[in-house]
Amino acid sequence: MKPIYLSLTDAKHILVILVFLVQTNITNSTTTSTQRFATQLIHYDSILSPFYNASATIIDYATQAHERSISRLSYLNATTMVETPDDIRGVITAPPEGAFLVNMFIGQPGVQQFLVLDTGSSTTWVHCFPCIGCNSIHPIFNPSQSLTYYALPCNHDPYCAANCDHQRNWCTYSESYMDGTSNSGNFATEKFTFVIPNVGATIASNILFGCGRMVNEPHIEISGVMGLGYEEISVVTQIGTKFSYCIGSVRDPYYPYNRLIIGSGANMIGKLTPLDLHNPYYYLTLESISVGHRDLPISPRVFRRTSRGDRGVVIDSGCEWTFLIREAYVPFINTVQQIIARYVARATFPNQPTWLCYYGVASRDLIGFPIVRLNFNGGANFSLGIQNLFQAVTNRIFCLNVAEANGKTPSDVSIIGVIAQQSHNIGYDLSARMLSIDKTDCRTL
Ligand SMILES: *[C@@H]1O[C@H](CO)[C@@H](O)[C@H](O)[C@H]1NC(C)=O
Ligand SMILES: *[C@@H]1O[C@H](CO)[C@@H](O)[C@H](O)[C@H]1NC(C)=O
Ligand SMILES: *[C@@H]1O[C@H](CO)[C@@H](O)[C@H](O)[C@H]1NC(C)=O
Repeated sequence: MKPIYLSLTDAKHILVILVFLVQTNITNSTTTSTQRFATQLIHYDSILSPFYNASATIIDYATQAHERSISRLSYLNATTMVETPDDIRGVITAPPEGAFLVNMFIGQPGVQQFLVLDTGSSTTWVHCFPCIGCNSIHPIFNPSQSLTYYALPCNHDPYCAANCDHQRNWCTYSESYMDGTSNSGNFATEKFTFVIPNVGATIASNILFGCGRMVNEPHIEISGVMGLGYEEISVVTQIGTKFSYCIGSVRDPYYPYNRLIIGSGANMIGKLTPLDLHNPYYYLTLESISVGHRDLPISPRVFRRTSRGDRGVVIDSGCEWTFLIREAYVPFINTVQQIIARYVARATFPNQPTWLCYYGVASRDLIGFPIVRLNFNGGANFSLGIQNLFQAVTNRIFCLNVAEANGKTPSDVSIIGVIAQQSHNIGYDLSARMLSIDKTDCRTL
């Protein structure tokens, strides 16, 4: 018989199919080989988002993104301190709103959900039918119509025994927030299907999540949260110890390549820097900020988290703006203002008089503006170009998306937001406690 020779492209193609089949098998059993659950991240304001508002303007987007960022900052403000009074630590300020939604399906047959991506919490929860007060704008997941739903019973473990709804034999959870909102229900396991349209789907079975039965958060229309924190209950730690994401564009409503990968197949590329896990955030060791080739005069000590839990630098998925502690913000802003004055004139944005704004179009008028680098312990860095620092607020005004953290937070925590993280692949390795950062075109991953 004539041997069959495959061209390289054919061979690659077949390999892809094999890998896909093998992965499907692996994900259905729970062996420890390479697992790669890849999904699309959808910005709130994207045309792919259920919250897309065709009549909203760039001013609306910029203002809302700022509001969400400030509310995120106050959320971290209330939760990072070790000795925040009990009445604040027990109840979190506000439910996470975030910036990105995870496109996924829950159950069998799968029901599509858009869950808020949150690296600052570990519990994943989804509205479940019947639900009192659920206000989400997409179909609510109905466990009784799913073949793969399993409600944890009260005798599941000591936690469940202590948090038991005896009438229904449910293991319960409950979260309440300082702004009066709350959400509670039962713990269950389900099949999660992660989807990238036109690329493929991967299935993770028996994922533990909170089935939200009683939700009191009238201003929020989300259908749930995907917690990518490091605690045991997190989807990340249920699947493995790694995840990565790449956000190519926060603002372009048509950009389709923002990606999240969970599992050992996450993209761990580029240089490494230590990742510290606290309370329940991801902290980085920021050593310096440079503009062009010049290091700004900032002592690295101002970025260190103290034993009380104040200060420190959190990398966050839910905050668009970047907030710097005053000792870093002042030298940063002075340098930026000095350089930018050579290019464009200062403008006032009437809606937000405190923002630092300029006349012009950043991508056109700031050609030659030096790269700003956030340099971390170990040699990794975020390399901030014009699109990582500035956003248009009208056709002729753009503003800086970096603000001062002080005065707004007694904890003085600095936050690296997603606008700064754009065009970097960011890999989290929870067992090695390392973060990998690589400047990347997300379309190539
Ligand atoms: C959509 O945007 C317009 C313009 O800002 C606003 O008036 C309207 O309330 C928004 N609609 C929704 C559903 O948010
Ligand atoms: C930060 O928390 C303190 C209480 O610890 C509170 O007084 C202050 O208003 C909070 N700031 C923000 C911006 O939420
Ligand atoms: C910053 O990180 C990139 C990798 O993303 C690396 O190529 C570059 O050399 C680093 N720059 C500095 C100054 O360390």
